[in-house]
Amino acid sequence: MHAPLTVPEGSDRATRYGLLLPQATALLQGERDAVAAMANIASLVHGAFQWHWTGFYRVIGEELVLGPFQGPPACSTIAFGRGVCGSAWAEGRTLIVPDVELFPGHIACSALSRSEIVVPIRGRNGQWAAVLDIDSSLPNDFDALDQEGLAAICALLGPLIP
Ligand code: SME
Repeated sequence: MHAPLTVPEGSDRATRYGLLLPQATALLQGERDAVAAMANIASLVHGAFQWHWTGFYRVIGEELVLGPFQGPPACSTIAFGRGVCGSAWAEGRTLIVPDVELFPGHIACSALSRSEIVVPIRGRNGQWAAVLDIDSSLPNDFDALDQEGLAAICALLGPLIP
């Protein structure tokens, strides 16, 4: 059994990321299944920040397929290069979208989503294997601090994804 996973109420983002990384490391210790790992990380990150939607899409063939997430139901497949998720995968880099309405081709799974960050994740063999997608109901809610903090968490997952 793991210790309760919490970040102090009202703590700033840097503090939250600082606390999350060791919690994520502990959660994944001994984990061998990629979906179980993504499920626990989605829960951990969502719980710490209370964003609108926090989850993963997995690269399966020529598309992204919905993986473990927290939040309302979402689109189940996204084509290569489509939307923010498909673009982050195609470009092989993290995308921060301050205003989703200004992103050409944004896929609106929820009308409440206003800004978004998508972090692509390399799998065990160095291939693009998944993306972490986070949607906020606030505009301009993500910056370099989130990019860095989330990349560190995603780096823990890569070795678990075949
Ligand atoms: N907004 C995303 C689609 C996924 S949902 O937001 C969960 C996109 O344009 O890639």
